[in-house]
Amino acid sequence: MKANITQAAITAVAGYVPEYILTNAELEKMVETTDEWITTRTGIKERRILKGEGKGSSHLGAEAVKSLLAKKGINPEEIDAVICATISPDMFFPSTANLICDKAGIKNALSFDIAAACSGFLYALVTGGHYISSGMYKKVIVVGADKMSSITDYSDRNNCIIFGDGAAAVLLEPSTDALGIQDSILRTDTVGKDLIFMKAGGSAYPASAETVAKKEHYFYQDGKSVFKFAVTKMADVAEEIMKKNDLVGEDIAYLVPHQANKRIIEATADRMGVSMDKVCLNIQKYGNTTAATIPLCLWEWEKDFKKGDNLILAAFGGGFTYGSVYLKWAY
Ligand code: UT7
Repeated sequence: MKANITQAAITAVAGYVPEYILTNAELEKMVETTDEWITTRTGIKERRILKGEGKGSSHLGAEAVKSLLAKKGINPEEIDAVICATISPDMFFPSTANLICDKAGIKNALSFDIAAACSGFLYALVTGGHYISSGMYKKVIVVGADKMSSITDYSDRNNCIIFGDGAAAVLLEPSTDALGIQDSILRTDTVGKDLIFMKAGGSAYPASAETVAKKEHYFYQDGKSVFKFAVTKMADVAEEIMKKNDLVGEDIAYLVPHQANKRIIEATADRMGVSMDKVCLNIQKYGNTTAATIPLCLWEWEKDFKKGDNLILAAFGGGFTYGSVYLKWAY
């Protein structure tokens, strides 16, 4: 066991979803689709949408962070670092993490964004964990925040049914009781660069009247191809981390998967030998909130987790990026 070694443990979690609910019934009026198609192909029934001029992902993230600080009774000035996973930043710079600090009253902290699409929260969690386990920092906040509605084309039925907006944040603190992050596998497969992307608005294709007319500022994916990779890679990496740590299905209290498609999640659970009652699944309520899906699940299932529970977090997304994290719940 790893007692007396400093590990990074999640010691609190809080989430935020905007009020507006976009239902499958409403989408039926916007594009040629049906509730039946969306439900059977994805598992999604509704998603949340952030309304209001000038409100971006930092609004979602800051609401989650403020609620996290209030829940733990922590003064914002005690926070050493804020890392925000997002692919829908308010703007290129300042970073969304910078803006969250401003809104939440966090001063003098290290803050930056990580862009790893749907795997962003796992990348950020592991990065934040190293600041704790190295002894450099005592309190690190990791946020997953995405306003996916800002990069979704609501005339494209292939994509607009999938996404929602949301954010959730965790507090990482040191643990010497062998709790917290035990192991991680984080990977990239660049075959994905042509299958899932947002083409314009960056330095390669700066925004122009032409890029707008060609709808290149929206999320694009070749859904069918991405699906095939997602099913294989997310299950591969979840299985690999279990084998590496001598874990079998019965040892796992909960699988906390990225919520992209219920069928991908079922395939992953099946490969791990974990029954669906041990799988955190809330895609029906929120759709795919990209970097926010995993921490939103942690927030919802927090009341069910017990100290010492073995959790496997697993994600797959744009890049491709993918990964798994094995952690022992700390409270
Ligand atoms: O989170 C990051 C990574 N992303 C993922 O993991 C997403 C992976 N992909 C998926 O989840 C699925 O591929 C989708 C949900 C995006 C699509 O489901 P699918 O079962 O792969 O459908 P498809 O793209 O193969 O389309 C099947 C049919 C097509 O019609 P034809 O060509 O068979 O006549 C589509 O045009 O369904 C049609 N279709 C729709 N029909 C009704 C596509 N979108 C819709 C829609 N409503 N919204």
